Amino acid sequence: MSRLILDSSNAPEPGQILWRSPSNIALVKYWGKYGIQLPRNPSLSLTLAASCTDTQLEYEMRNGPDDGQIELDFFFHEEENEAFRSKVLDFLTGLLPTMPFLKQLKLTVHTGNSFPHSAGIASSASAMSALALCLCSLEDRFFGTLQDPNAFDQKASQLARLGSGSACRSIFPHAAIWGATAQVPGSSDDYAVPMSEHIHDTFKDFQDDILIVSREEKSVSSRAGHALMEGNPYAEPRYAQARNRLSSLIDIMRAGDLPAFGKIVEDEALTLHALMMCSNPAYTLMRPGSLAIIEKVRQYRADTGHQLYFTLDAGPNVHLLYPGELVVDVRKFIEDHLEEHCEDGFVQQDWVGEGPEEI
Ligand code: PMV
Repeated sequence: MSRLILDSSNAPEPGQILWRSPSNIALVKYWGKYGIQLPRNPSLSLTLAASCTDTQLEYEMRNGPDDGQIELDFFFHEEENEAFRSKVLDFLTGLLPTMPFLKQLKLTVHTGNSFPHSAGIASSASAMSALALCLCSLEDRFFGTLQDPNAFDQKASQLARLGSGSACRSIFPHAAIWGATAQVPGSSDDYAVPMSEHIHDTFKDFQDDILIVSREEKSVSSRAGHALMEGNPYAEPRYAQARNRLSSLIDIMRAGDLPAFGKIVEDEALTLHALMMCSNPAYTLMRPGSLAIIEKVRQYRADTGHQLYFTLDAGPNVHLLYPGELVVDVRKFIEDHLEEHCEDGFVQQDWVGEGPEEI
């Protein structure tokens, strides 16, 4: 492939690109990595709709000699943010060998989330996928190298993965798998692949109400958590278990078997947190409120027979997954019995979405 370098005698006009990209919630969890953000086991997620990031990338040709640096201004909710700028700059610098044109430009990023800042909702998946999509649009605008929509999505997913592993799954509507698995031709550790055509319609109308048990910053970051898997005595059996569960879940989601779905999803959430408790040093991210909610969800299911299930990310907040037809009943249950466990009663209502959109 020819090197992606702009011709300075024919410089592009200044311009901008804007993408909105959602978060995702893993059903089979990615926990443990190696190399450059490669997963120890394949994972499967639902793409969300309401929790998303809008990222606008503005560009203009730089004047002056090539100093090998990327010129970047960064605004988060219209305010300069040095911590985020430095993270994004590291990410972009890592891309220079394949995207050398980035250092020929002055870049300005304006980004913001649809959910309140410090609501306890992780934004790395939506943020890194939105940025990756902007970069792919930029490459295609200058060089026409990503005209094929599948090639575009694959590259966006791969770049998002380099920014934050789980972000690679946010590129696709409804559901995605990241990690090579024999069952899904074309699946890869380098990028996620779409699963929408292989899941029952019931999952395309699924709710995910996120109960914010605590907004506090996590005591152990995901990055540190992944690293602790290296010394975890259960690591190898865990990776094998994740492969088996993924294999079952693929069939279950194709068939739309909700009780079997719920069993695997809840087991995965508890396994993730059990792995944290078995790490050295051990740590817990669940809070008493998380456990209280889990107990009440189990009781609600026993009492009503409704297909309501929980999952957890690497944090105390509880995601409630259920088919759209239950929304009135479940929202009433949340209001009457679960909001009391949430910080300031905050619940982020979300649902399975159509994936990112260029605006
Ligand atoms: O993408 P990271 O490095 O933030 O790790 C995400 C890990 C989990 O959210 C716990 C699981 C997953 O697969 O999303």
